[in-house]
Amino acid sequence: MVLSISGIKKSYKKVKNEAVKAVNDVSLEIGKGELVAVNGPSGCGKTTLLLIAGGLLYPDEGEIILGDTNLYDISANQRDKKRAENIGFVFQQFYLVPYINILENVLIPSIGSNSYSSSLEKRARELIDQFNLSHRIHHKPGELSTGERQRVALARALINEPSILFADEPTGNLDDDNAEVVLNYISGFAKEGGAVLLVTHDGRIGKQAQRTYKMKDGRFINQ
Ligand SMILES: Nc1ncnc2c1ncn2[C@@H]1O[C@H](COP(=O)(O)OP(=O)(O)OP(=O)(O)O)[C@@H](O)[C@H]1O
Ligand SMILES: [Mg+2]
Repeated sequence: MVLSISGIKKSYKKVKNEAVKAVNDVSLEIGKGELVAVNGPSGCGKTTLLLIAGGLLYPDEGEIILGDTNLYDISANQRDKKRAENIGFVFQQFYLVPYINILENVLIPSIGSNSYSSSLEKRARELIDQFNLSHRIHHKPGELSTGERQRVALARALINEPSILFADEPTGNLDDDNAEVVLNYISGFAKEGGAVLLVTHDGRIGKQAQRTYKMKDGRFINQ
């Protein structure tokens, strides 16, 4: 098992102390080679679940086991290290660095892991090429379309060859052709021994996933 999510609950405290139950008792497991999708409407808790699963947000209850590590049982530093080594994350809002070009953005994770090398730059160029971005390699994120930025974010998430990829609406801004390129790549990444947890409201994704959970009001409704 690559990832095991069990009994996750998370509420956000709102103004006037009214809590929002964003995730309400969610469990799932992802094995090597699997692409698992979570599908549901805006506000149902998908991003919250993904942030928790990816080691970026403490749950109120439940456990995330990545490989043999309980992600919230270790120190923040250890968790950062674990993320750098094992996790690729595509954020819904991309979070690209505006002052540096596309190639440099894709190489950002290699700075943290001290792993920069010319072969890594070669891999970055290959990913950029695969996602149809070669003509923009020296441009800055602000000069790209939203869909192009989305593909840069995916290339960046894959640069360190993570064991698991977390993807938040990775096709949300893509036309059918580029959505297909991205989905084929993601499902290929899973098939070749990776693992993917993908959250989306995009119906185009169902076909590639081994399992699709339907989420509503913080829960899976088809489990
Ligand atoms: N930081 C926050 N503080 C308070 N409430 C939040 C916060 N983040 C999200 N929420 C609320 O939690 C619920 C789940 O939000 P979440 O972002 O997980 O939904 P989502 O399924 O990803 O939606 P979308 O499809 O629009 O991206 C929503 O009701 C949202 O308003
Ligand atoms: Mg979201």
